[in-house]
Amino acid sequence: MKYRIVKSEDIEDAREMHKQTFPDDVWVGDDHDYWFAIDESGRAVAFASAIYYPECRGVYLSRCGVLREAVGCQLQSRLIRCRVAWARRIGADFVFTFTTIKNYPSIVNLLRAGFRFHEPTVHPRLMEVFHMYVKMLCVSGMVGNRLEMAEARVAENAR
Ligand SMILES: CC(C)(COP(=O)(O)OP(=O)(O)OC[C@H]1O[C@@H](n2cnc3c(N)ncnc32)[C@H](O)[C@@H]1OP(=O)(O)O)[C@@H](O)C(=O)NCCC(=O)NCCS
Repeated sequence: MKYRIVKSEDIEDAREMHKQTFPDDVWVGDDHDYWFAIDESGRAVAFASAIYYPECRGVYLSRCGVLREAVGCQLQSRLIRCRVAWARRIGADFVFTFTTIKNYPSIVNLLRAGFRFHEPTVHPRLMEVFHMYVKMLCVSGMVGNRLEMAEARVAENAR
């Protein structure tokens, strides 16, 4: 089966996929951007979301969910790559996200995509339940205290 990745404004589709892949989580938010993996019959089998936070000039990868029948097809990797490419295009300096500590598929896919673990400084307790990751996009890598702002966003979203 071949899949294509599309960026879409269709919040209703995103809500539906979110409900199916994150049944216990609250809706991620209408202000995020959304991407879908579409199969050859035109059906969405995975989705991902991201949001740009101007205060830290960073893009936060907020969700990625793959329907059971499409797991194992590297869709999360593809959805990570297209969101990173989007982050570059809009001029973000870095991309950040988090996983629960035992979400091995996501950990593998993020490290493969060039993300690195980030040890929180202002929110150390985050580490008890989550791993935070950062991928630098700016050449200098000089983001200073903006990573702390990103930590605050993770802390807020991980509640
Ligand atoms: C997490 C999720 C997005 C991954 O979907 P996916 O794109 O199908 O992932 P894949 O199976 O293609 O890739 C996972 C990789 O991790 C590897 N992996 C999985 N569990 C592993 C483990 N315990 N140890 C080592 N590697 C592991 C897989 O072998 C695979 O690598 P491969 O391509 O070399 O075989 C999907 O399972 C999902 O939607 N889960 C529910 C929602 C969720 O947890 N989302 C992520 C948080 S935002």
